[in-house]
Amino acid sequence: MEVFPQYTLYCYTVKYHASLLDPEVNMEVTLMERIHPTQIRKYRISCVGIYQRMDMCISMYTCRSIDSVIHGGLGRWDNALYLSGIEIKESVIGIAGFGRIGFATAKRLKAFEPSKIIYWDVGPLEYAKEIGAEFASFEELLKNSDIIIVCVSLTDGTRGLFNKEAFKKMKPSVIFINTSRGAVVNQDDLYTALTTGQILAAGLDVTTPEPLPRDNPLLSLPNCTISPHIASVSNKTRYAMAELTARNIIAGLKGEKMPAPVC
Ligand SMILES: NC(=O)c1ccc[n+]([C@@H]2O[C@H](COP(=O)([O-])OP(=O)(O)OC[C@H]3O[C@@H](n4cnc5c(N)ncnc54)[C@H](O)[C@@H]3O)[C@@H](O)[C@H]2O)c1
Repeated sequence: MEVFPQYTLYCYTVKYHASLLDPEVNMEVTLMERIHPTQIRKYRISCVGIYQRMDMCISMYTCRSIDSVIHGGLGRWDNALYLSGIEIKESVIGIAGFGRIGFATAKRLKAFEPSKIIYWDVGPLEYAKEIGAEFASFEELLKNSDIIIVCVSLTDGTRGLFNKEAFKKMKPSVIFINTSRGAVVNQDDLYTALTTGQILAAGLDVTTPEPLPRDNPLLSLPNCTISPHIASVSNKTRYAMAELTARNIIAGLKGEKMPAPVC
């Protein structure tokens, strides 16, 4: 602040990593009438896209092998299907919320040759055609997907969207991944779905609350992998976010156009 002694700098974090459609962000942005809010979303997209894929692999893998390593089952090769799981190749990938991260994830998954990528959003999206992704209704997405990836924003319309009715409509072999916001999932219903064979496995990077209390029943399930909201965590992404934040602040202080304003 030596360079701009006339300013006081307030660093204020608007809900870490939130989407602009998240209700808490809209509220915060409204409160900032005299402040020029900026954002750092663009850098985390590829990182989250990669993470989604990783989380999916981990979830597919977890339910069949990690437990066996921990509990000494490894080595029983007498059954040809021992530890076998599903492949992305020829599977139907269903993406709920085809915004930046949903689309980035789909682009990366395409390389694994799924039979189809379907998505559900507010309506069909032009850019989805670039990768041949097909629009589906919410019901169709639930019914037809082998892997469901949730990338939808948290809004009043999506809160608790993945509830017992939704889980009942999914294939019993589905792998359910959520990296958006914990509150789009009804966790009690997810627990029931995972323990009654309604769905095969889940991978959650986001939960309600975060972190989950250590006695939360989801943590005891062998077919549920939970990570601590780390989908955008890589050194490169974090440095890029910090740099963009600094560039936003400097431009703001100089009265120049900020590189990444919230508009
Ligand atoms: N786990 C992490 O570390 C991490 C990191 C970044 C973002 N996120 C979260 O991932 C989510 C997606 O982020 P993004 O940058 O892709 O956001 P985005 O705004 O680009 O995409 C969200 C999509 O959801 C759709 N959508 C919203 N409400 C809908 C509704 N009622 N019905 C159908 N579609 C609806 C929007 O049309 C949009 O296409 C956000 O919730 C964000 O907070 C998590």
